[in-house]
Order: sequence, then structure tokens, then C-alpha cells
Amino acid sequence: MSGARRKAVRKGRFIVLEGLDGAGTTTQAERLAAALRAEGHAVVTTREPSDGPVGTMIRQALTGRLGLPHGAGPLSPETLALLFAADRTDHLAARVLPALEEGKIVLCDRYVLSSLAYQGASLPMDWVEAVNTHAVSPDLTLFVGVAPEVAARRRAVRGGAQELFEADEAQRRIAKQYLAAIRRREKRERIVHIDGEQGIEAVTQASMVHLRKLLARKR
Ligand code: TYD
Repeated sequence: MSGARRKAVRKGRFIVLEGLDGAGTTTQAERLAAALRAEGHAVVTTREPSDGPVGTMIRQALTGRLGLPHGAGPLSPETLALLFAADRTDHLAARVLPALEEGKIVLCDRYVLSSLAYQGASLPMDWVEAVNTHAVSPDLTLFVGVAPEVAARRRAVRGGAQELFEADEAQRRIAKQYLAAIRRREKRERIVHIDGEQGIEAVTQASMVHLRKLLARKR
């Protein structure tokens, strides 16, 4: 990345929300965007998998609509990990970096930590990290922590078909991987653990404390 691009990127703030399926990151992304806008900030909300071509393929794979040719089964974990990394490249170029360059706050529902936790549950985390080295680091990651059982109950209430990684046993493994991934990244990146089992408003308020602190800080 050129020096100019690196410097330009720093004009905005890149915030990522992470957690198990059912942790509430999607709800919180919208609530935090509203709270930040009310405080006068320009905010863009977005998510991964993105709505780009690779992200669309990923969503099809997650719901079993896309697999290997000749009905030979689901895509391999390696293929999926590479697709998530490729989708990230597109998403950065199309949405995240332009908004950061305009000085906006980008609130992103899932990012590299999801790949480390979800793909790292079945592949070596070193390799997953290596295929994601192109991805710029967030300024802050909010990890919304809930017990796998709580996340499972929320998914059951929400209803809908179960996606690829939503089996209870997979989620318990991913929960452990999240903690391992956070330990690995927190030396280089700012990652804050938010108690996701409190009420929705309490999660928003706890997150806002950290966001206000970040925004008050000069670069
Ligand atoms: P999710 O945010 O749950 O989308 P939706 O609400 O539309 O189901 O993301 C879809 C799934 O993709 C989720 O189970 C997490 C998984 N995922 C990965 O495995 N790796 C990644 O890098 C990302 C971004 C998501």
C-alpha cells in the first residue's frame, strides 16, 4: 500500500463488530450508527460477507445452494476461507476504503476476526491469517461476547433455516477460536470485549463508551 493511501485511510475510523451467530452484532451495528449520527458523525454501516459478487457466492454456499461441481458435496473449508478473503478485498476497495478516505466512520459487521474464528475452527489459523494479510487493521474491534447456549436460544427465536456454521457444536468450537484469535491479535490491534448478555440498550451504551474514547483520541 502506498504511503499516500495509508495516510488517507487514517482520516476515517474503521470499527468492526464481531461475535457468534446470535450475539447481536447486526442489531448493534444499526443502533451504534444511529447513536453516532445523533452525535454528529458521518457513519457508513456495512457487513461481511459483502453484497459483492464473491459475497453473494459465499451466502449461497452458507445456505447449501452452491457446492462442488457434479453434486460432489459442499465447498471445501479452504475454498470458503479463500472466498471470504477475496470478498474482503472487494469489500475494502468498493466500500470501506473510499468511506475512510472521505473521513467517515465505517461500522462493519464481521471482518478478519470472523475468518480466524470460523475458518480457524477447521484450518490452521496461521494459514487463514496469511491469506488475509492484505486486509487493513480496524481502529477498534468490539467483540460482543455471549455464551454459545445464549446465542443458540436467540437463533431459535429468530427462526429461519440453519446456515453452515450454525450447528450448536460448531458454534462452541468457534467460541473457543474467537478467544484464541483475540489473544493472537490483541497485541497489535485494539479489541474490546463487550458483555453481550446484558440488555440491548446496555450493550449499545457499553460500546459507545469505547467508541467515544476512540473518537476523542487524536491520531
Ligand atoms: P452473518 O453475519 O451471520 O450473516 P447473516 O446474518 O446474513 O446470516 O454471516 C454469515 C456467516 O458467515 C456467519 O455464520 C459467519 C460466517 N463468516 C465466516 O465464516 N468467515 C468470515 O470471514 C465471515 C465474514 C463470516
